[in-house]
Amino acid sequence: MPGTYDYGDAEYWDARYLEEAGASFDWYQRYSALRPILRKFISSYSRILMVGCGNAHMHMDVRDMSFFKDDMFDSVVDKGTLDSLMCGTNAPLSASQMIKEVHRVLKPGGVYMLITYGDPSVRIPHLNQLGCCWKITLYILPRPGFEGASCSSSPRSVLESIILTKNGLLPSDYVLEDPESHYVYVCKKMEA
Ligand SMILES: C[S@@+](CC[C@H](N)C(=O)[O-])C[C@H]1O[C@@H](n2cnc3c(N)ncnc32)[C@H](O)[C@@H]1O
Repeated sequence: MPGTYDYGDAEYWDARYLEEAGASFDWYQRYSALRPILRKFISSYSRILMVGCGNAHMHMDVRDMSFFKDDMFDSVVDKGTLDSLMCGTNAPLSASQMIKEVHRVLKPGGVYMLITYGDPSVRIPHLNQLGCCWKITLYILPRPGFEGASCSSSPRSVLESIILTKNGLLPSDYVLEDPESHYVYVCKKMEA
C-alpha cells in the first residue's frame, strides 16, 4: 500500500469508514478472484475470524485478541490488515504481536490466510517467528484488471501454488506476470 496516507493509524481507518459508509470497495483482490483459494482451504461451516474488516461488529486490536481463547478458530482471514500494521510505527513489533495472536487463536491444523502486497522476502520472516509453526503454501495473483503481455503458452492457474526455496524466497527463475501482484499465503498451523 505505498502512498502518503496514514495506513498504520487506526484513526485514519475509523475516519475513512465513516466518510465512505455504504461505499463498496475491495482492497487488492475481489472475492471472485479469491474464491477458488478460499473454497479450497476454508469451509463456510467452520469458525472463521475475519480481521481488519471496516464494517465489523466488534472492534478489536489484532495485536491483543485476549478476548478469544486459544485454539478457537478454524481459520483467520486477513486482507490488508498485517499490511496496515506494517505501515505504522513499531511495525516489526506490531507484526510479531499480530502473528503470534493469530497463531494462538487458531486450532492446530487451522489456516491463516494472509492476502498482502508483501512478497516472501518481507513476509516469511515475520510468519516464521519463534513460537509459530506453519506449513505455508503461496499463491500469487495479478492485480484485478492487469493485462500483461501473457504470451506464455500456458497461463498460470489461480490454484497453482509456488514452491518457496529453503530460505523462504521465490525461486530464482520465477517470473512475476505482474510486478504489483498480490500474494496469498495459506499458513496451516502445525503442532509445535
Ligand atoms: C487495507 S484495510 C483492509 C480492510 C478489509 N480487510 C478489506 O479487505 O477491505 C486495513 C484494515 O486493517 C484495520 N486495522 C489496522 N490496524 C489494526 C489493528 N491494530 N487491529 C485491527 N484492525 C486493524 C483497519 O481498520 C482496516 O480496516
